[in-house]
Formats: sequence, C-alpha cells, structure tokens
Amino acid sequence: MEKRFLIVIFGGLGDLAKSKIYPVLHSLYKKAHLSNCSKIISTGRRPDIGKEEFIQILKDSIGDNDTSFFSLFEFVRLDLDKMEEYKNLEDILSKFKEEELIFYIATPPFTFESIITNLGNFLKEISNKRKIVIEKPFGYDLESAKRLNSIIKEYFKEEEIYRIDHFLGKETVQNIFGLRFSNIIFEGIWNRNFIDHIQISALEDIGVEGRLGYYDKVGALRDMIQNHLMQILTLIAMEPPCCINEKAIRDEKVKVLKSIREVKYDDVPLYAVRGQYEGYLKDERLTKSYTETYAVVKLYIDNLRWDGVPFYLRTGKKLKKKETSAIIVFKKIPGLFSKLLDCTPQENIIGFKIAPENKIILNFQLRPLGGSLLSCPIPTAMEWNGPNLEAYETLFIDIIEGDHTLFIREDEIERAWEIVQPIIDFWKDHREIPIYPEGSFGPKEAEDFIRRDGRVWRYL
Ligand code: BG6
Repeated sequence: MEKRFLIVIFGGLGDLAKSKIYPVLHSLYKKAHLSNCSKIISTGRRPDIGKEEFIQILKDSIGDNDTSFFSLFEFVRLDLDKMEEYKNLEDILSKFKEEELIFYIATPPFTFESIITNLGNFLKEISNKRKIVIEKPFGYDLESAKRLNSIIKEYFKEEEIYRIDHFLGKETVQNIFGLRFSNIIFEGIWNRNFIDHIQISALEDIGVEGRLGYYDKVGALRDMIQNHLMQILTLIAMEPPCCINEKAIRDEKVKVLKSIREVKYDDVPLYAVRGQYEGYLKDERLTKSYTETYAVVKLYIDNLRWDGVPFYLRTGKKLKKKETSAIIVFKKIPGLFSKLLDCTPQENIIGFKIAPENKIILNFQLRPLGGSLLSCPIPTAMEWNGPNLEAYETLFIDIIEGDHTLFIREDEIERAWEIVQPIIDFWKDHREIPIYPEGSFGPKEAEDFIRRDGRVWRYL
C-alpha cells in the first residue's frame, strides 16, 4: 500500500500560503499528486476565522470554486508561539495515526526558532513519521543559521528536514545541470581555459511589495545572493557527481562552496557593491534605512577548473525589467584574427534565461548568408524554449516522494552564510549607501565596478 500523508501548514493565513502554497496544492490536486493526502490542516492565529471565511480565503487564492479540493482542508486556530496551543492539533492528528506528517513552516523567518522548538516538543508525544519544510531565509547570518540548525537537529533528523530554495525548483535552473551533464560537447570548454567570466543575475522591476517588515531587516544580499544566486553558482561550477543521487549531487555542490575564496573584511569594497532605489524611504514610509535593495558580489573559486574566473552575482529591486539569468561569457577570439573581420566580434555566450521565460541561448559568430568568408557575426544560433512550470510544484512532489536533491543541506547552508558574512559585517559598519533611480539598471557604482574589470553587464 502506498504511504498516506497529511500536510500541516503553519502560516496558513499568510502571504506565502495565499500566493503560492494553495495554488500549487490545487494544481497538484488536479494532477492527482495528492491522491494519498488524507487532509491538509491549515493553521493561523486569528480567532475570527470560521469555516466559511477560510473557504473564501482558499477560493480567492486559487481563483476557483473547487469544493472537492476544499473538502481536503481543515482550519485549526493556533498561536505558534504558545506551546500549550499545539494541543489544538491533537484531536485531528489522533485520527491519522498511520499517516506521515508534513509540516510546512510558511511563517516569517524570525518565528522559526520558537516554532521548531514548540513543534519538536509537541511531536515527542506523537509517533507518526514526520517531515519538516522550512522556507528561506534559513537564518539571518552565520551564527543564527548555526543556531537554527542545532535547534532543528535536537528534534528532527537531517533526512526529515527540507530547507527550501524555490529557485532550485525552476525549470531552467535544473537545466543547467541537464545541459552540462547530458551533452558531451560542453565539458571540454567548461573551464578557465575557455570561459572569461560568469554573470548570475536576478533583476526585478517590482519593489518590496508589502514585505517591508521582513525586507528592511534583510536586504538584497541575504534575500537573494546568499541563497538563490549562490545555488545557481553551485550548479554552474560543480564537478560531475559520481552518481545521480541526492548525496552525491549535494556533496559536489558543497565542494564548490568550500572552494570559494574568502572575501576579507577590508577587501569588501573590491568584491561587492550595493545600492538603494531612490524612492525606497518614501514608498516604505521610513525616515532612514541603510538596507540595500541592490547588490553585486564577485566571487572566485580556487580550484583547477575555475581558477581566475570571476562569478558576478547581481540582484536588485525596482530595476528597468525583470530578468533572471545565468550567462557564461567565453573568451574573446585572438586580436589578430578579429582584425580580419569587418565588425567587432562578440564573445560566445551560453545564456540560461530563467525568468520571465525559460530559454537557453547559444550565441555563435557566423558568416551571414551571401556575405564574404569573414564578414559580420550573426548572434543566436540555437534557442530552446520550455513551458514555465511553477517551481513550488516540483519541490512539493519531491517532498512527498522524499527526494532531497533540490533542498539545501545543513553544511551547505552554513558554508553559504560563511561566504557572505564578511560582506554583511562590512556593510553594517560602513552604512552610507549609493542611491539609484527607479527603472534603471542599478547604481552607477555597479557599472563602474564591472567596467574596472574590463567587462560590461549582459542581458539576454
Ligand atoms: C524570494 C525573495 O525568495 O524570491 C523575493 O524573497 C523575490 O524578494 C523572489 O522577489 C523572486 O522570486 P521569483 O521566483 O519571483 O523570481
């Protein structure tokens, strides 16, 4: 018999549940991925939510009146800070003694420690198998991530823990692994002999979108670079794993993180730039804030494959457009040879476009039809387009099936914090922050930063 399970959502009235979790569960339900799910319990603190109000929240969230999907749900009032209130779950859980319990913590990060402690203690009396899913950011810095890891380990085994980074559920992010390791033609050139540098960007046109309470404490470095962009870096830079299993793949990712050169505190200005968009204080009704809404970090990987190749990780809010991408920029063709061309040759690139659409672009230089032997380059020789599947769907299926490959391991999360910690410290001590206009591509300082290296920012 297939194992049955129950999903318990903490933060069931929050933004993440409404904007992502319920729509994704609905889509999984329609595709029969929840046929073994006995119940979805949603919890929230508000005392005034009755059954009807809760169904209305679900309806608004999924934009559909799917009563059979709604019948899976039960709303339980629960203040997660109060240990005694976890008893509110007892009645319902006691009816499902054989089911595996999947706890999804979809609450703000500053609540994680107390929730995990309370939940862990509550579960001591319960014998069901369990899994715990934790949203990012996992910790606020290296110290808090270590503390969170040690708390969670008191109550849960590593194989029960799913640390989410939703970028790993994105189609094109997974296709970085796919392209590299399913095609023999790339391996020989995937190194410092051919590649000049790599740009990993998550540019957004939106601002803080009502998440000020979270964002102003966190900023772009913690919100995007430490997790999402660092994860893309590991997939681009990792060695082929010995075998396709979660341990082997995650081991290789951790090896990359361990090989990243330390950015020394005093050298931070040489490796990182930040900025804040012009209207941030006004939009968010703040009198003062030094939180960065834009950040660039340059990292080097000190190993045989990548020695000397810079990886630029860049993100920002209220920029000119949304574009999430990873661009591998190859070296220039030799100067003497380029003189034979009628135009300035461009470097070859392999571009992974992650958003707004899924696309892989290979940029070649070709002789145009009817042109002379070496005349002008024609960009873009190959494009692959794919449908935009919701990242959370992939991740949910993996959680149900117990596959950790796309989740972050304890050592991985701590090493990623270790890498950015000197930058966090330096920015805390040196607060003045460059301002950039909304709708631009970021602060002038970031343009100067890459130009000093003889390079420019790329877009797909
Ligand atoms: C989240 C960040 O993890 O990712 C947000 O907290 C950001 O600030 C979002 O907007 C971007 O994700 P996506 O999938 O919309 O590109």
